[in-house]
Parts: sequence; C-alpha cells; structure tokens
Amino acid sequence: MCYVFFIGFVIGVWPESKSFSDEGMGPIPSKWRGICQLTKNGSRCNRKLIGARYFSKGYLAYASMVNSTAAKSIQPNARDYAGHGSHTLSTAGGNFVPRASAFGNGNGTAKGGSPKARVAAYKVCWPPINDNECFDADILAAFEAAISDGVDVLSVSLGGEAVEFFNDGIAIGSFHAVKKGITVVSSAGNSGPTPGSVSNVAPWMLTVGASTIDREFSNYVALGNKKHLKGASLSSTGLPAEKFYPLMSASDAKATNASASEAQLCKPGTLDKKKAEGKILVCVRGENARANKGQQAILAGAVGMILVNDKLSGNEIIADPHLLPASHVNFSDGESVFAYIKSTKIPMAYITRVKTELGTKPAPFMASFSSRGPNPVEQSILKPDITAPGVSIIAAYTQATGPTDGEFDTRRVPFNTESGTSMSCPHVSGIVGLLKTLHPTWTPAAIKSAIMTTARKRDNNNGTMLDSSKARATPFAYGAGHVQPNSAMDPGLVYDLTTDDYLNFLCARGYNETLLKVFSKEPHKCPKAYSLSDFNYPSITVPNLRDTPVTVTRRVKNVGSPGTYVVRVKEPVGVSVTVKPGTLQFKSNGEEKKFKVVLKAKVQGPQDYVFGELKWTDGKHNVRSPIVVMHY
Ligand SMILES: *[C@@H]1O[C@H](CO)[C@@H](O)[C@H](O)[C@H]1NC(C)=O
Ligand SMILES: *[C@@H]1O[C@H](CO)[C@@H](O)[C@H](O)[C@H]1NC(C)=O
Ligand SMILES: *[C@@H]1O[C@H](CO)[C@@H](O)[C@H](O)[C@H]1NC(C)=O
Ligand SMILES: *[C@@H]1O[C@H](CO)[C@@H](O)[C@H](O)[C@H]1NC(C)=O
Ligand SMILES: *[C@@H]1O[C@H](CO)[C@@H](O)[C@H](O)[C@H]1NC(C)=O
Ligand SMILES: *[C@@H]1O[C@H](CO)[C@@H](O)[C@H](O)[C@H]1NC(C)=O
Repeated sequence: MCYVFFIGFVIGVWPESKSFSDEGMGPIPSKWRGICQLTKNGSRCNRKLIGARYFSKGYLAYASMVNSTAAKSIQPNARDYAGHGSHTLSTAGGNFVPRASAFGNGNGTAKGGSPKARVAAYKVCWPPINDNECFDADILAAFEAAISDGVDVLSVSLGGEAVEFFNDGIAIGSFHAVKKGITVVSSAGNSGPTPGSVSNVAPWMLTVGASTIDREFSNYVALGNKKHLKGASLSSTGLPAEKFYPLMSASDAKATNASASEAQLCKPGTLDKKKAEGKILVCVRGENARANKGQQAILAGAVGMILVNDKLSGNEIIADPHLLPASHVNFSDGESVFAYIKSTKIPMAYITRVKTELGTKPAPFMASFSSRGPNPVEQSILKPDITAPGVSIIAAYTQATGPTDGEFDTRRVPFNTESGTSMSCPHVSGIVGLLKTLHPTWTPAAIKSAIMTTARKRDNNNGTMLDSSKARATPFAYGAGHVQPNSAMDPGLVYDLTTDDYLNFLCARGYNETLLKVFSKEPHKCPKAYSLSDFNYPSITVPNLRDTPVTVTRRVKNVGSPGTYVVRVKEPVGVSVTVKPGTLQFKSNGEEKKFKVVLKAKVQGPQDYVFGELKWTDGKHNVRSPIVVMHY
C-alpha cells in the first residue's frame, strides 16, 4: 500500500510524571532507559527526546527491486531530513522555548501540547519512489517498537487512502496499541474539501481535521487603481515601501516553447526572462508547489509574486516563507487583479511587508485541504472525530533543509510554519498527554470521548464554524468540533469502549475468525446479534434513515461527581429524535447508564445528510454528540 499525501513520523509521547524536578525533567525512569539505542553513530539519550529509531526494511525491499540507486542513496538513520518529524514532534511535546518565530513573525514563547513530556521518534518514511514513501511493513514495525517501549500516546501524522481495516497497516498497528491502553491520534488527511476524502477512519483511532487559529501572517497588494487586497505571506524580504512595479500575468511572460496555461501556473521552464524581468508576476495556484512558483518567478527575474487562488481553492490563503516578496490572495481578489491588468495599458502594483495579526475573526474556520467525511469505509462511524489548529503553525524545524523544503532554498531556520492535518494531529496528541497525566486509568476510548464531547462548534464570532468558502461547516469537516483542552479535563460523562467492543464492531462488519486474528491473537467469539447502531461511539451516525424508525443505543459512564443529567436534542431537519430515558441519575463515580435514541422521519427525506446534536447536561457539564443522518 502506498501513502502519498502526507508523510511523517510516528511519535511516542510519555506524559509528564509527578516526579519532575523544578528543571522540568527528572531522571529517565528505568523502563525507558533501554530504548536509548539510537542511530548507528549513536546520538545519546536526551532527557527530552529519549529515543529516535528508524524503520526502513520494507522500503528497502521495494526500493532494491525497482530502483537500486534510490535504495543505496538513502541515509539509514533516524535523522529528520524533511522537517516534518521535528515539527510534529515539537508540537506534541516540545518544551518552552522563548523567542520562537517565523522570520520574526509570531514571535513569542513556543511550547508543545505536553511541554514536559518525554518523546521518542519512529521514522518510517523515506524519499518517494513511484510515489511510495512509507510502507506498511515499516509502519507496523514502528508501532510494535513503540508499544514495546511503553509509550502512552502515539501521534501518527501519516496516512493513505482509506481502505478496509484488515488491509490498513495503520489501523492494524493502532488496534494493537489501543489494546495496550495507548491512545492513537492520527491525521484526517489533506485531500479536502472533496466529500468522502477522510482517511484513518478506524473507530479506535482519534482522527483530527485541521482548522485555523486567530493569528494571520498578512500583507497587502496595492494595485495602481488604488485597490488594496489582503493576502497571506511569510516572505522574509519586502519591496521598498510604496514603490510601484510593473505588474504582469505570468501567462503573458510565457516562454516560446510553453503553453499559456502552464506559464500561468509558473511551472518550471515556462517563463521567459526577457518578459518577466523586474515585474511583479501573477501566478495561479495548482499543480506545482506554491513556493516553487515563487522560485520560478525569481529565476525569471521577477521582483515579486502575487499568488492567486483558482476557483477550487477559493478563499484558502496560506502564508508561505517565499524567497521573494509575495502575497497569496483569494480567488475573488485574484479576479480583481486580472481585471485590473486587462483594464489598463501599464498595470502597476506593490506588495507590503508581512505583519502578524492577532485576534483575527472569524476563527477557527475549517481549512479547505482538511479531508472530509462521510467515512468511505464504515458509514456508521463519523470521521473526522475532531478538529484542531493546522494552519500556519510555528514549530521546530530541521537544519537539513530550507523552510520551503526546495533544493533552491538554502536558508536554515530553527522554526518554521507548516499547514496540514499533520500539524493538527500532534496538537491533540499533546492534549491527550495531559489528560493521561490527570486520569492515568482512563481508556483510550474514554480519553477520546472526553475530547469529543467537550469540543466547540462555534467560532469567535459566536457563529457555527465556517468552511474556508465562508459557508457553514458540518460535522463532516470538524467531527464533534474544535478541541477544548480545559473542558476535556472534566467531561462529566464518557462513552467508553473495550477491545471486545472493537472486535464486535469488526464482527458486525462481517469479519471471520481468520480476519479477526489480524487484530487479536486470542480467539474472539462474535456475538450472535450485534448491530453497529449499538457501538458505543461518542458521535451518532445513521447512514440510512428511510420510513422505518432507527433505534440507537449508547452507554455513558459518570467520571465526575454524583449528579442528574437531562437530555437536550437539536433535531436534524425533518427527523424526530426521542431519547429514553430523558434523565439519567448517577449516584457514584464509575456508574454506567444506558439510553436509547429513536430517530424517525417526519417528512420525505431530502436524499441528503442532515445534522443535529444530542447533549446530556447536569448544568455544569455539557456532554455533546453530533448526530448525522443520511435521510433517504
Ligand atoms: C532512481 O533513484 C534515483 C535516486 O533517487 C533517481 O535519481 C532516479 O531518477 C530513479 N530512477 C528511476 C528509473 O526512477
Ligand atoms: C523576538 O522578541 C524578542 C523579545 O521581545 C526579541 O529580543 C527578539 O529579537 C525577537 N526576535 C525576532 C526574530 O524578531
Ligand atoms: C523550454 O526550453 C527551455 C530551454 O531549452 C527548457 O529549459 C525548458 O524546460 C523548456 N520548457 C518546456 C515547457 O518544455
Ligand atoms: C476574498 O476577497 C474578497 C474581496 O476582497 C473579500 O471580501 C473576502 O473577504 C475575501 N475572503 C477572504 C477569506 O479573505
Ligand atoms: C452565542 O449564540 C448563542 C446561540 O445563538 C446564544 O445563545 C449565546 O447567548 C451567544 N453568546 C454570546 C456571548 O453572544
Ligand atoms: C475470511 O474472509 C476472508 C475475506 O473475506 C476470506 O478470504 C477467507 O476465506 C475467510 N476465511 C474463512 C475461514 O472463512
């Protein structure tokens, strides 16, 4: 199986222990000392990064078959040559670091989600060969090592197209980790906003989408017609203030041997230096990497670049550390740039220097790239589960490559901004580390439930979180909502699940004994009747509501003080939702209560998905679950 769209490390996170000295980290507990056998040239055990291993046998077996040059050219060690591993690892468990910034922007003290955690890196991805870079054999070996090392949390910023669970190395590895009480957090993927694009869809994983934070790195494009357009950028250089430069669409700078459409994308070898020299070039997003377009503009002698979205990428603008003064503007602003160029003989523009804006609104909103539900493998499980910050995240970076990860980028930076569900995943992993410290006996399912049921769906305008197109986002984008760490500490009730529940889930999907062995060596007896609608997931999805009402059962466990919870329901449009009983009384901590949810069509279905919410509340805790119904 190949993993093509986001590469990564598997990261193990150990939560902070109570015995930490004032300095932060105490001595390494003996159970972890053995794992400090790092690279061949033996990086020593560090009290923070206590292990770094690499797994390449699967990759090499394939590489030596199809390209022996590539097989010989990899450097077999645990070093991060791409930046992705350092970035994700420091987001999950980085210590406090003052004066962290991206070229002076966003300057401040950075920290990971579990700043006092010990971390270990398990490198499983290598330079792509025929688009294959991370192999199941290596991923499974890494899971096995991490499980045996005794990690508490696995942060898996890694994935491929969603496939049936018994064919999915990450799902299988995660199952074994969860069985041992390790929470596995994973990325939803960067294939959005296409419906059904979500990956890592197994119910035992905590799958994270990506949304923005209320910080933007912006600059302005001033056009000769006095229009000012707001763009995103992290260019390390700027143009002289308020000096206008000639502006040109890259298609007008096309080389004789290139097509106008290729030149418009500023693809390598498509621009004519004679035409582009000294200009601000307008390049359209798509196909080649955004920073690469900037590089092509530099090679063509341009002084600046306006990167404009195509229709598909709409309003999503990304602050990249371009090598030249550049600004990324949205689709409609791009249209104004082109209209202005057409409207005048001598189009002119300038680009201002980058500024950090804080408290921007609306925030968070869903990143367009964040992969969307419905779940392509098992429609009765909503995925992603949650969303977390994943746009323009500042974290640690490698010195082995430049901030745009292009060969042309010879800059070296200790911190870099990156965007992706690879970045949102470790935010949640860090939070899981904190929850593990607070509640060491909670199962991975309880921790996941606490994170999901306390999530927030509103943004800082107090409206429903939006998509990058400014339309209301749905649970297919954000799952239960945006993670709220403080509320997750004290969720009131949790929807718990055991390994047997997960195996029963697989039984209900028709897994026979042979297939179940992939997940559990011990034989598992499938129950005679087990319905997926009774699988105790913290969200409720009914994939086929027709004329017959559907009944869903759930159990909630009290993890707070004794209390009485009442139910509140927001019905999906055209669907009636009845909960029985409507009140649950808990006399003690640990007590579990069952309830039934009956969903009934009130009107003819729209042949589409409709969304609602179920909430248990004792006045202090709000235990929310999204309701998703395909109403035929
Ligand atoms: C084999 O790998 C080398 C080094 O990575 C690369 O330069 C070359 O293009 C590859 N050859 C083929 C046929 O893919
Ligand atoms: C970040 O802020 C600190 C303290 O305010 C300052 O000393 C430092 O120069 C700043 N770093 C950059 C790169 O601007
Ligand atoms: C056009 O020709 C130049 C010079 O020979 C070459 O470098 C470039 O790759 C060619 N571009 C295309 C699109 O073929
Ligand atoms: C896109 O551009 C238009 C016109 O400037 C603006 O009104 C709109 O708010 C922009 N969208 C975003 C997401 O910035
Ligand atoms: C936010 O909106 C909700 C529902 O529309 C409303 O009940 C609540 O009072 C609002 N909160 C604030 C702070 O405006
Ligand atoms: C179990 O299911 C798999 C996949 O459907 C099938 O290939 C296999 O033959 C089955 N094994 C048994 C013992 O039924």
